[in-house]
Amino acid sequence: MTPQVSDPVEEALGELREVLGGSARPVVSFATGATYENLFRRMAEEIRSGELDLVSCVVTHPDEYLGYGPDTEGGMAHEMIAACPPLGGMLKRGTFLPVPGTDDGASLEAHRARILRAGGVDLQFLGIGRNGHLAFNEPGSVVEDGFRTVRLSESTRLAARARFPGREVPEVAITAGLGELLRSRRVVLMALGSHKAEAVRAMLEGEIGPSCPASYLRRHGNVRVLLDGPAAALLREKP
Ligand code: GLP
Repeated sequence: MTPQVSDPVEEALGELREVLGGSARPVVSFATGATYENLFRRMAEEIRSGELDLVSCVVTHPDEYLGYGPDTEGGMAHEMIAACPPLGGMLKRGTFLPVPGTDDGASLEAHRARILRAGGVDLQFLGIGRNGHLAFNEPGSVVEDGFRTVRLSESTRLAARARFPGREVPEVAITAGLGELLRSRRVVLMALGSHKAEAVRAMLEGEIGPSCPASYLRRHGNVRVLLDGPAAALLREKP
């Protein structure tokens, strides 16, 4: 889990190409948020120019706001499709599996089972919250946690304010648990900007435990951390 500083978005694209060239029908799960905006844009460009083809894969994402679906602005699936329109076609064809924005346990279980039937997540792209959250696994989450609804922390809601102009940021969300995230065959975590530096330090150099959920990634044997210079600034050992 050696952190690297390079062009994180291009490296992430390279990771995507690699998994697409590997197993027959890989399952790729994308975190959303500002960190991933440029990756989705680059994917859209490359799909348009014919350099990238997602036809042979299944796409999903780890988290969604309660009450939000692919048609609801501010939601995760909506954001992915807006930044990379070909994902909208995949949604229609059933190869983009959106997290149901519901607290109905049967629907969440059905979603989890669909991902497992598709073979489980081969490549999980993740971001990190300022408080060390992974997907919406807020501090206090443990590795046994599975798909569930969670109450968002104030800092997470504050960080999400720009997504909801003129509206309240939702208080509850649905997230894949640390359990599911850690079962992904490969994890690529990308963190950009000085506002992530403290969380990156806690993840890589702090104690492994629930106060920084991302720190559990150090127990996964196949993780790559992509940072820009400002996000890496507080590390004792500079990558
Ligand atoms: C959000 C999402 C995560 C995301 C993280 C960082 O709240 N739940 O999936 O990776 O926090 O978001 P951003 O990239 O906007 O900083």
